[in-house]
Amino acid sequence: MFKEIVPHQFSMNPFKLLSRDWMLITAGNKDKVNTMTASWGGFGEMWGKHVAFIVVRPQRYTKEFLDREDAFSLSFFDDEYKEALSYLGTVSGRTEDKIKKAKMSVNYSSDVPFIDESRVVFFCKNLYKEAINPESFILDSIKDSWYSNEDYHVLYIAEITRVLKKTNK
Ligand SMILES: Cc1cc2nc3c(=O)[nH]c(=O)nc-3n(C[C@H](O)[C@H](O)[C@H](O)COP(=O)(O)O)c2cc1C
Repeated sequence: MFKEIVPHQFSMNPFKLLSRDWMLITAGNKDKVNTMTASWGGFGEMWGKHVAFIVVRPQRYTKEFLDREDAFSLSFFDDEYKEALSYLGTVSGRTEDKIKKAKMSVNYSSDVPFIDESRVVFFCKNLYKEAINPESFILDSIKDSWYSNEDYHVLYIAEITRVLKKTNK
């Protein structure tokens, strides 16, 4: 069971939430859904809206789903799911039914898929996307460290339209 909360009722350290706990980016429709682990991104305020931003490399299968649909979800979990998140961030949904193998299940809110085992879910509506431009780096060492394959992340900025919190936690 989930209940809706307003974004400012969500009090978590965003640094811990992303770099230590990680999240799942889930996108798709009633027929096909994919999810992947992510630890880069952020939350904030943009264009008068609460927003999340995520960065996804071009080769991720999840990117195809993000580009096809208007909306996606970001899920956060209790520590017990860390191993599952590690698996979902190593294997591609192109090659196996990884959601099933991770023993997770898909749920929907207004047709947007999310992972039912989540502690908190952010529902996001895409507003803007752009590939990281290699010519825009001010600190070239970042480009050298992270993009030796020239697989520049695509940045998505999305409005957080709804936040659901598990009620029994
Ligand atoms: C802790 C962790 C964080 C990750 N963060 C990102 C990220 O922010 N962006 C990204 O493109 N890939 C990230 N990945 C890699 C993807 O999760 C991974 O390549 C995944 O297998 C992609 O699955 P897919 O092909 O089914 O989309 C991360 C992986 C892990 C383990």
